[in-house]
Amino acid sequence: MFDSLLRTSITTPPSEQVPTAPRRKKIVVAMTGATGALLGIRVLIALRRLNVETHLVLSKWAEATIKYETDYHPSNVKALADHVYAVNDMAAPVASGSFRTDGMLVVPCSMKTLAAISCGFCDDLIARTADVMLKERRRLVLVTRETPLSDIHLRNMLAVSQSGAVIFPPVPALYIKPASVEELIDQSVGRMLDLFDLDTGEFERWNGWGKDKEKEKEKA
Ligand SMILES: Cc1cc2nc3c(=O)[nH]c(=O)nc-3n(C[C@H](O)[C@H](O)[C@H](O)COP(=O)(O)O)c2cc1C
Repeated sequence: MFDSLLRTSITTPPSEQVPTAPRRKKIVVAMTGATGALLGIRVLIALRRLNVETHLVLSKWAEATIKYETDYHPSNVKALADHVYAVNDMAAPVASGSFRTDGMLVVPCSMKTLAAISCGFCDDLIARTADVMLKERRRLVLVTRETPLSDIHLRNMLAVSQSGAVIFPPVPALYIKPASVEELIDQSVGRMLDLFDLDTGEFERWNGWGKDKEKEKEKA
């Protein structure tokens, strides 16, 4: 039987082969209690637009900062994702390396969650899933937010970076000359998703000095 199956697949001409749809990307998004809840929300909105399947985990303090910093209720944020898991649900699919995903973004990432990830202390689903990303050599992006940074924060960032994570502090790119906070956020979100080979198309990429010079010429 296997022989005949093998023969069929080898002998079927390409014109008769049924094209398979490209697999929909799957990304885990975790939000923690650092300031910058809007960054996580805009990531979820961008991933939805890009038709990426999202798996969301909110920490208790992420829920508090969402309420405090934004016009969203945590339930509205959860509604932006395809799948939502409780932060203490260690039996969630994303807690296992056998559940295939294209990576994980922790946005924003508190110093507490960074510390847990850096020492492999999988006390909640966010730290456990990040641990899985590192052991499976998958993309892990941590949007670490604190200022100023202590030696402990810096050491933890170096440790996770050496283990394969990308440290992406949400530092504003003022060279885009933003007209609003939203523009800055869109630029940051765009650069975060670049790391997953996803193009939001919602920010202007640096293209040399050319554009500014053209504008100056127009003014003169
Ligand atoms: C309004 C607010 C802003 C906060 N901002 C930060 C921050 O920027 N960075 C940080 O590491 N912790 C910040 N914290 C503290 C964290 O929420 C706290 O350490 C919490 O235990 C993090 O837990 P989690 O990582 O499980 O969400 C903030 C707390 C509040 C209430």
